[in-house]
Amino acid sequence: MSAEPAIEVRDLRKSYGSVEAVRGVSFRVERGEVYGLLGPNGAGKTTTVEILEGHRQRSSGEVRVLGHDPARGDRELRERVGIVLQEAGFYPRATVREALEHFAFAYPRPRDAGEAIALAGLEGQADTRVRALSGGQRRRLDLALALIGSPELVFLDEPTTGFDPAARRSAWEVIRALPGLGTTVVLTTHYLEEAQALADRVAIVKDGRVVAEGAPADLAGESTRYRVAYRDNGLVREHETDDPTALLHRLTTAALADGRTLDGLSVTRPSLEDVYLRLTGEAGTDG
Ligand SMILES: Nc1ncnc2c1ncn2[C@@H]1O[C@H](COP(=O)(O)OP(=O)(O)O)[C@@H](O)[C@H]1O
Ligand SMILES: [Mg+2]
Repeated sequence: MSAEPAIEVRDLRKSYGSVEAVRGVSFRVERGEVYGLLGPNGAGKTTTVEILEGHRQRSSGEVRVLGHDPARGDRELRERVGIVLQEAGFYPRATVREALEHFAFAYPRPRDAGEAIALAGLEGQADTRVRALSGGQRRRLDLALALIGSPELVFLDEPTTGFDPAARRSAWEVIRALPGLGTTVVLTTHYLEEAQALADRVAIVKDGRVVAEGAPADLAGESTRYRVAYRDNGLVREHETDDPTALLHRLTTAALADGRTLDGLSVTRPSLEDVYLRLTGEAGTDG
């Protein structure tokens, strides 16, 4: 181990014909981090991750994954990385345990299949055939498969899409535990609350560019303007200010002098959601 980052990406670009899917993306992921690429559909998240995985060739830019250029397809790198594809499908007739034991052979230091099953919360399905799994269980099997090789780095592309809320929470617990097991995590998501719950740092991606990067709490706090709101004769009054102390003093002094109350008085700062919606222009219909 060294201070070398898990991932370093500089000015990454990828075009599909005339479509520029990734337009100069740079970021760095330290070992032991959970790093999130957050953005709406079509932002270029999967393209970026697939380049890091070595599944796609980049058009230009520099990429280092655990010190390797993934475009070279080094076996050593493949053995150290775990991958959950956005769409996966294989061996419908194998049982969960058989599928994991099969893939374990590809790695020099695999986890025990039972441990991977437990990590992914599939204890009840170990002997179930893959084709009989529900969509959410199959997604968990994908996660177990990504973890079977005891990877140093795991790529999770939309790991909980299609999960019900309970399954999502339990997948979050697994993902949160991974750095403690020696695995750095890069995940993509279009769920803001998922990025907020899991990621130490996020890059908000839009139209192939990183439009903001940082710890979720810092991103939300980047805008220092406060919003002060109250109701006045049934109408909502809103003020924006850098200095809510002075503003509140003015508003409350005037109200008290007139014998009025400021109904529903609130002071808020923009949440990560506000920042995300502003940066991505998303209507925010599905989370
Ligand atoms: N194989 C491909 N051929 C052509 N265009 C593609 C291909 N894969 C993705 N794209 C386009 O690249 C853009 C980024 O897609 P993608 O990386 O899948 O974004 P995300 O994962 O953020 O939804 C989209 O406009 C998508 O239509
Ligand atoms: Mg995608």
